[in-house]
Amino acid sequence: MSTKLKIGLFGFGCVGSGLYEVLNQSKLLNASIEKIVVKDLTKKRSIPASNFSYDPASILDDPTINLVVELIDDAEAAHEIVTTAIRKGKNVISANKKLIAEHLAELLMLKDQYGVSFLYEAAVCASIPVIRNLEEYYNNDSLTGIEGICNGTSNYILTRLNNELKSLPVGNQAFELILEDAKKAGFAETDPTLDIDGFDSKYKLQILILHTFGLKTIPEDVLNLGIRHIKTADVLFAQEKGLKLRLVSFARKIEGKVVAFVAPLFVKEDSFAYDINYEFNSVSIEAHFSDKQVFIGKGAGSFPTASAVLSDISALQYDYKYEYKKLFNSTSDLAQDFDIKVFVSAENLAALAKIKLMEVEEEFTSLKYAYKVGRINISQLTHNFYRNNPDLFLAFYGESEIKLQISNELNH
Ligand SMILES: NC(=O)c1ccc[n+]([C@@H]2O[C@H](COP(=O)([O-])OP(=O)(O)OC[C@H]3O[C@@H](n4cnc5c(N)ncnc54)[C@H](OP(=O)(O)O)[C@@H]3O)[C@@H](O)[C@H]2O)c1
Repeated sequence: MSTKLKIGLFGFGCVGSGLYEVLNQSKLLNASIEKIVVKDLTKKRSIPASNFSYDPASILDDPTINLVVELIDDAEAAHEIVTTAIRKGKNVISANKKLIAEHLAELLMLKDQYGVSFLYEAAVCASIPVIRNLEEYYNNDSLTGIEGICNGTSNYILTRLNNELKSLPVGNQAFELILEDAKKAGFAETDPTLDIDGFDSKYKLQILILHTFGLKTIPEDVLNLGIRHIKTADVLFAQEKGLKLRLVSFARKIEGKVVAFVAPLFVKEDSFAYDINYEFNSVSIEAHFSDKQVFIGKGAGSFPTASAVLSDISALQYDYKYEYKKLFNSTSDLAQDFDIKVFVSAENLAALAKIKLMEVEEEFTSLKYAYKVGRINISQLTHNFYRNNPDLFLAFYGESEIKLQISNELNH
C-alpha cells in the first residue's frame, strides 16, 4: 500500500515551479503539494499568491505534512530547513548538492536517529538516475570507478572553445566571452565560481563517492581545479594531439585506495567524455564484472531536475530509503599521496617557471606563451592553487598516468 504524501515545498524557482507542474501532470502519484514557502514577498508568481507562505514554520510545525521537499538556492538556509524537518520526523527530499556535501556526516546521522528517509537524486546530474542505480543495481563492492561530466556550464564553455577555436579571440578572452554568453542564456550564475572552479562538480563527486565506494568525505578532502584560466592555446595543444579538454569528476580505486579529484582532463576519442557536448552531463560507472556503463542526460533545467525529484517522491510512496550498504562494508579510503601527469601553461613565463615538475617530457616557450608536461605530486595542488597562481592553467592526464605512492600511503 502506498502512503499518501502531503508535501511542504520550499522554493518555487526553476526546480520548484517545475515540480509543481510535473506533479500536477502525474496522475499515478498519491501525493499533493499542501504548502509552498518562498522568500521574496514582492515577486510575481505564476500561480495565485494564496498558495504561498513566507514562514518556514507553516510547513515545519504542521503535523499533517509528512514530506518536506527542499528546493531553495541557499545552502545555509536549506541546512536549517532540512535538519529541522528531520528532527520533526518528516521525510525529506533535497536537490541541494552543496548542503549535502558539506554536511554529509550530520545528515546521515540525523536521518538514522529520527528514522526518516532523506533522498537527493536530483542533486547529482539532475535527470540522470545515478544515485538509486548505485544504491540498488550496483549494491555490492564490485565498483572500480566512477567518472562524470557533472557541470553543464563548464562543459558548455569547453565545447564552444573546442568547436569555435578559429573564430574566437585568443588567450583567456575567449573563455570570458563564452562565459558571458552562458550568463545571458541563463545557465551560468551571475557569480559562476561554483561552476567554473569545479566546486559544483566536487559536491556531486562527494555524493557519488559515498554511493560508489561507501566513503564519507568533506569538501576539503577532494581537490577541485577548474577552468577559469584556460586559454585558446591550451585548447589548440589538445586538438593537435587528438584530445579534448573536459572538466571531469574522477574517482577510481587504484591499488585499494580511492583516487579522487575534479580537474580539467585531456580525454581521448574512446573516453565517455569525448562526445559529451554543451550543457549535457554524463556519468560513467565501471565495475569488475559488468565493465563500463555510461549515462547521458540533462544535468539541469526545470523539468529534467523536477523529474528526478518526482522519482524520489514516487519511491517514498513505498517508504524507500537509501541503505548505504557500502558505507558499512567499505574497506578503502581516499588516496592522500599520488602523483599524476599534468600539463601546465601560462602567458606569464615567470609564473610557469615557479612550477616544478618531475620527469618533464615536453616543454614549449615563446614570447607570449609557454607550457610544460611532466609529473606532479598531488600535495603540491591545493584548492588555493589558482588563487596563488592566477596566471596558470593546469590539466591532468587520465587514469593510466596516476601513480600511487604506496610506501607513503602506508605511513598515513
Ligand atoms: N536549476 C537547476 O537546473 C538545478 C539542477 C539541479 C539541482 N538544482 C538545485 O535545486 C535547488 C533550487 O535551484 P533553483 O535553480 O530552482 O533555484 P532558483 O530558481 O534560484 O529558486 C530558488 C527558490 O528558493 C527560494 N528561497 C531562497 N531562499 C529561501 C528561504 N530561505 N526560504 C524559502 N525559500 C527560499 C526562492 O524564493 P523566491 O522565489 O521568493 O525568491 C526561490 O523560489 C538548488 O539547490 C540547486 O542547486 C538546480
